[in-house]
Amino acid sequence: MTRMGKYCYSILHSCKVITDHPANNVTDSIFQKIGINLHQQPAHPIGMIKAAIHDYFDRQHPGSFTKFDNLTPVVSAKANFDEVLVPADHISRSPNDTYYVSPDTVLRCHTSAHQAELLRQGHRAFLVTGDVYRRDSIDATHYPVFHQMEGVRVFSPEDWHAAGMEATQFAEGELKRTLEGLAQHLFGKVEMRWIDAYFPFTDPSFELEIFFNGEWLEVLGCGVMQQQILEKNSGPDQKAWAFGLGLERLAMVLFDIPDIRLFWTSDQRFLKQFKTGDMSIKFKSYSKYPPCYKDVAFWISDAFTENNLCEVVRGIAGDLAEEVKLIDNFTHPKTGRTSHCYRIAYRSMDRSLTDDEVNALQEEVRSTVADKLKVELR
Ligand code: PHE
Repeated sequence: MTRMGKYCYSILHSCKVITDHPANNVTDSIFQKIGINLHQQPAHPIGMIKAAIHDYFDRQHPGSFTKFDNLTPVVSAKANFDEVLVPADHISRSPNDTYYVSPDTVLRCHTSAHQAELLRQGHRAFLVTGDVYRRDSIDATHYPVFHQMEGVRVFSPEDWHAAGMEATQFAEGELKRTLEGLAQHLFGKVEMRWIDAYFPFTDPSFELEIFFNGEWLEVLGCGVMQQQILEKNSGPDQKAWAFGLGLERLAMVLFDIPDIRLFWTSDQRFLKQFKTGDMSIKFKSYSKYPPCYKDVAFWISDAFTENNLCEVVRGIAGDLAEEVKLIDNFTHPKTGRTSHCYRIAYRSMDRSLTDDEVNALQEEVRSTVADKLKVELR
């Protein structure tokens, strides 16, 4: 995972970000994702779902929503956290969860990083699509880079007075009506439910879940924007709603895509199945190659985190790592030491893996884990 001498080219201008700062925890495989911009590819499922959502807003509110899809993912920690009121001690700020390029620059972990800036520019209704980055676990619905669309709409007193409603209630009603309409536009009939949630930048806050492959999948977070954000960046006497949609998850549900890694494949058997504008396509899995399971067990230290383990596994196996799952966790009664056993599923989306290949990956994972994570292999 050397990062020496690497540059990241941001999207708008080729601003060089020097990445050998000691605070930098961005691995090469993550840096290489910057600039790929799946959301700008019209025949890719991520680009298609973006277009379908734009289409919904254009029909509902012709000409009202300004759309952005080329804002750089390299943002200040201030924009990503402070300006949307994320508390100083909030877990999402930790380098265990967020990719830092330097102490005050991050790869945005959500498109909410653009809310304040766009309000300051005077926008009152906008949609921002972009790639977002999070250190996270490894499984079929989690990937350290994914795409979000942020939506914001600001109202004035005339709006809620005309409806004879109190401002917050009015914004909440508009928000839910808008998002339910969107879900219907995308999916037709689908089972969904609202969950009360917490976000530092909205109050009240909600999540929308959709029933998919036998479980409830969170597809968006939203709420009524904190007044402080509006007052600081837009002006007094306003009310707004905001949402952040996960485009991969919506696309997985809509097109029946079973694994989030598929979005990154260059295999034509995947890409060829999609066509700009055809939202009725169902993905047909080409033969699923067999997985290969390998366990690794070790005594952990206080500094151990699962995200760090997953980062090591991804650094070595890349997209061949399908899942990393804790299968045993016990504390020795005498020594008080805790042991974890993780099962790693290796599987390629495109081909069969050989035993030798998997064994070599697993060996490298074992030695790197012992070396970098300060754990004792068992
Ligand atoms: N930024 C939130 C997330 O990434 C989603 C969100 C956006 C919630 C806007 C509320 C308002 O999870």
